[in-house]
Amino acid sequence: MKFLVINGPNLNMLGIREPDKYGKESYDALLDKISAHCKNHGLKVEFYQSNHEGALVDRIQQAYFEGVDAIVINPGAYTHTSIALLDAVKAVGIPTAEVHISKVEEREDFRQVSYIRAACCFTVTGHGTDGYLEAIDFLRGKLKDRDEG
Ligand code: DQA
Repeated sequence: MKFLVINGPNLNMLGIREPDKYGKESYDALLDKISAHCKNHGLKVEFYQSNHEGALVDRIQQAYFEGVDAIVINPGAYTHTSIALLDAVKAVGIPTAEVHISKVEEREDFRQVSYIRAACCFTVTGHGTDGYLEAIDFLRGKLKDRDEG
């Protein structure tokens, strides 16, 4: 199983940006943690981070042609604004899970909308970076059911 973990704007600043909300763990430490988890479960994983909406759309489209089995995405602030990301996930039809490190539903009004959610089979918020691992586990179970069913 081939997983792609996509992070949107400012997530490369993990550990530096607002540690009270996003924790002290760096982006590189997050990638190490996800890599170790995937290795334990025999999954292949690739990572992509961009601060640019169109680049994120391009990477989601590319995943289709690479035969990626599942996507985990934290679209950052594009969660709340981007119909283009929603359409990209719908276009490729790859099972996708949405992750937010912070509990977005308890934050500002403008964070209460998630466009991408409509195309995602799983959402996790407020579990810190462990949310990425939960999303991977959910998708792993879903793909296993698909392959065995
Ligand atoms: C975030 C929540 C978003 O509202 C914010 O813009 C982010 C990070 C999170 O992981 O909690 O950049 O997606």
